[in-house]
Amino acid sequence: MNIVSSSAELLEQRRQFAAAGARVAFVPTMGNLHAGHLSLVQRGLEIADVVVVSIFVNPLQFGANEDLDAYPRTLAEDTEQLERVGAHLLFTPSVDVIYPEGMDRHTKVLVPELTGTLCGASRPGHFDGVTTVVCKLLNLVAPQVALFGEKDLQQLLIIQKMVRDLALPIDIEGVPTARADDGLALSSRNNYLNPTQRATAPRLQQELQAIAAAIKSGSRDFEGLCAEAQTRLEAVGFERDYLVVRRRTDLQPAKPLDTELAIFAAAKLGSTRLIDNLQLTVSESTPG
Ligand code: PAJ
Repeated sequence: MNIVSSSAELLEQRRQFAAAGARVAFVPTMGNLHAGHLSLVQRGLEIADVVVVSIFVNPLQFGANEDLDAYPRTLAEDTEQLERVGAHLLFTPSVDVIYPEGMDRHTKVLVPELTGTLCGASRPGHFDGVTTVVCKLLNLVAPQVALFGEKDLQQLLIIQKMVRDLALPIDIEGVPTARADDGLALSSRNNYLNPTQRATAPRLQQELQAIAAAIKSGSRDFEGLCAEAQTRLEAVGFERDYLVVRRRTDLQPAKPLDTELAIFAAAKLGSTRLIDNLQLTVSESTPG
């Protein structure tokens, strides 16, 4: 696996891929890789000839009260894992390569509406930082396809909209959430949980499944179902952020006749914020 840090080296690699007629898949990450990230790389290897991965801890998507400096940086281990799964190229730009004139002077890419709700409400400006850096990385790497995890479903939907709106010639593919055996969505934040919290954490996904089961058996009292699940989560130690049923199309609150739904949850265990979601499609004929 080649590792490059400058745009010039990246462009040279790109030229070589193009000359070879290779289809390129791209997996942007912030590093501290786990099996969830690697599943994106593995999917890339299935659908393309070459997989490019980036590791860039993007300061623009961190809020003032979020600890950018504490974000784990584990380049040696990450490189080893990427070598093992068979990624072809790793791009590790510095902040100066991405924001040469500083973040304040950099052009921003803003996606309206989808970015203001859920995680966007809890983390103002977060998604503006994500779309700005992803747009730039997509232009630098110029892949045919880019892969994003359904673990961050809101992020995936926002990026799909950005690519549609700006007519970027790139397919965006979502990859199912990789989970631990007990159902907890893999996340680098899971490392911050103490053993008791780690044992409690799978409850989040279990409550999403309980809501989904009730919807499938005909309930359309989305608010009531979420309120009951929220109470159970708080009883085992979760601190509430949000737990809601939304339409997958526009992330607006689901109405009884909507069919493409997703249940979104964010909650804190101690100081660790966990997120998860569950997508479900219900048939219109289901009683409401
Ligand atoms: P990061 O949190 O490093 O995640 C990189 C990619 O891995 C994202 O597409 C994320 O959804 C995916 N991912 C994380 N955990 C996963 C899991 N358990 N199963 C499947 N996929 C998973 O998301 C970001 O970085 C940044 O916002 C980024 C897009 C790189 C822009 O800076």
